Amino acid sequence: MKISSHAVARMLGSWREGPGPAHQRLSDRLRLLILDGRLPLGAALPGERDLAAALDSSRTTVGTAFRTLVEHGYLATQARTRATVRLPDDIRPAYPAGTDKDTIDLSVAAPAAPVEILHAAFATALEQLPRHFERHGYDRHGTAELREAVARWYQRRGLPTSADHILITSGAQHALALLARVLLSPRDRVLIDHPTYPHAIKAFVDARARLLPVAVTPSGWDTEQLRAAGRVANLAYLIPDFHNPTGMCMPTSTRRQLRLACPTVVDETMADLALDVPSPEPLALHMPAAISIGSVSKSVWGGLRTGWIRALPSILERVEQARPALDLGTPVVEQLATAVLLNDDQTRRPDALRQLGAQRDTLRQALAEHLPDVHAPQPAGGVTLWATFPEPVSSRLAAIAPDHGVTIAAGPRFGVGGAFERNIRLPYTLPPSRIAQAIRRLARAEQALVRGATGTHTPAPLA
Ligand SMILES: Cc1ncc(COP(=O)(O)O)c(C=O)c1O
Repeated sequence: MKISSHAVARMLGSWREGPGPAHQRLSDRLRLLILDGRLPLGAALPGERDLAAALDSSRTTVGTAFRTLVEHGYLATQARTRATVRLPDDIRPAYPAGTDKDTIDLSVAAPAAPVEILHAAFATALEQLPRHFERHGYDRHGTAELREAVARWYQRRGLPTSADHILITSGAQHALALLARVLLSPRDRVLIDHPTYPHAIKAFVDARARLLPVAVTPSGWDTEQLRAAGRVANLAYLIPDFHNPTGMCMPTSTRRQLRLACPTVVDETMADLALDVPSPEPLALHMPAAISIGSVSKSVWGGLRTGWIRALPSILERVEQARPALDLGTPVVEQLATAVLLNDDQTRRPDALRQLGAQRDTLRQALAEHLPDVHAPQPAGGVTLWATFPEPVSSRLAAIAPDHGVTIAAGPRFGVGGAFERNIRLPYTLPPSRIAQAIRRLARAEQALVRGATGTHTPAPLA
């Protein structure tokens, strides 16, 4: 795969920021893009002359940076061919095979299972299972039990919904991948929140769509910018309810005004995780054609791997037809257990939300104590906060943090064009003592960076 000079320049973003000579900063940024997988293994980089022109830099700077990368094993060169991306032999994944038990994982933002509640839900599901034994068990729409339970979940939130408008998937990510297949053609434009959920970016990029980022800033969503982008986009993807990664919640006034000219997918994965504000109105209440997706992965447990799409039956029919290329349905027992959880309203347990709120407070206190220069606004809900460092250290921190016993998701994974190099996403889904320990380790990693150390870990898988 050849990568154009403009694509590399976009990924590099503001590479000139920071101390040291330009060639060193350039090789450092390119190394991080390689470690992070944004410059994939085997990809052919542009020639030195082209890249220098795209970066408005000198050919000597680019040539020196390339030679450094060759010396350290990150690029392979052959006479008269483009340099290709490789990894040095001593590279270390953030998650070594066998998983280092003592490493604290801050890359995945999801809670552990509520054990007793899950046991009870599965016990009921097993009792109900024989109802399904007379049929073959392949069901592209999902079981009636879960479709009805999801429809009731929307009704409780004030949005009239019938089971005909629900299709069950294996998680919200699967819902997104199915919709990307059905709704997008190559080169279509997709409006995204910026930052946004990285696996959504992946689903749209894999559908060969072009991304149209609209900033979500500390003051929220900009209705005018969204409307303008909506006029040229083929699809919009928004996370209005306790947005991943920032934890922000779109205000009701914005929800009521927002009218986008393009089809809109609303990701409601965090909708039941309101900590400081009332539960938000579903965006589809004000956008009747919106396609909503959701799951219980964050409100109960990701291991259930059940989710859904709420849409007009005509869209669900297209999804159902596209589905067999990926899978032939979602496992029945998990669907029955999820229906029990939704019917018992186990996605908004006050005790679980109180615990989440306490963990969020622990995280903010630990940051104030150990990383006082880091700015971390209080998220209104969800499971993550979006921390801003004074310097663009995020990718370097992610590459070194496992040496200090913690893995993190670097800011640029949540955006396009090399943005968010000063940010990291921090989840508060672990017990308070682990959160405090993780932040102490992160502070040690940052001090090591300041002393000039470099890391060589590739990123951990995130969720
Ligand atoms: C915004 C958002 N959408 C979708 C997903 C995927 O959810 P699921 O586990 O249901 O596939 C996640 C999980 O992290 C998420 O944060």
